[in-house]
Amino acid sequence: MIRSLLCSSTLLMATSLLNPLMAEDTLYERLGGAEGIAVVVDHFIEEISFDRRIYPFFKDSDIERFRNKFSEQLCVVSDGPCRYSGDDMSSVHTGMNIGEADFNRVVELLQKALTDSGIPYTDQNRLLKKLAPLRNDMLHR
Ligand code: HEM
Repeated sequence: MIRSLLCSSTLLMATSLLNPLMAEDTLYERLGGAEGIAVVVDHFIEEISFDRRIYPFFKDSDIERFRNKFSEQLCVVSDGPCRYSGDDMSSVHTGMNIGEADFNRVVELLQKALTDSGIPYTDQNRLLKKLAPLRNDMLHR
């Protein structure tokens, strides 16, 4: 009896020690799930609306649609339980003639939004790494 109790408590200790290593959070969880992403997107839209370089691109856009689709996209790329229902990146951004400096500025604004939302740098970098490949679908179109 004592032996089996000892065995199970040793097992419990071992699992609780191992757990933080085994159960690595998804990026979606690290961003704070749907609520956390909503905060990031709020900050991002605020940054865009005050930015002299980027705001003109959005001046005639439906910002509520952008809020929804961009949030879905952040959820999907961070492995959250969502489906992206917006248009593909190339057709959305075609006709805007987005240059390198515009793209870099948008990345800066997103970084600022992430920082203001309390997201640690390592998680910011994980997210930006996932978005970076989309760059070629947007530039000079
Ligand atoms: C990694 C970078 C970017 C991502 C992930 C991204 C993502 C998106 C998404 C998901 C939408 C909504 C699509 C839809 O309505 O179906 C959107 C719309 C839009 N994006 Fe981007 N975008 C990026 C970079 C940029 C840049 C660099 C610009 C301009 C400088 C830009 C300007 C716009 C504008 C103006 C809209 C609204 C289009 C409309 O009103 O129909 N985006 N973007």
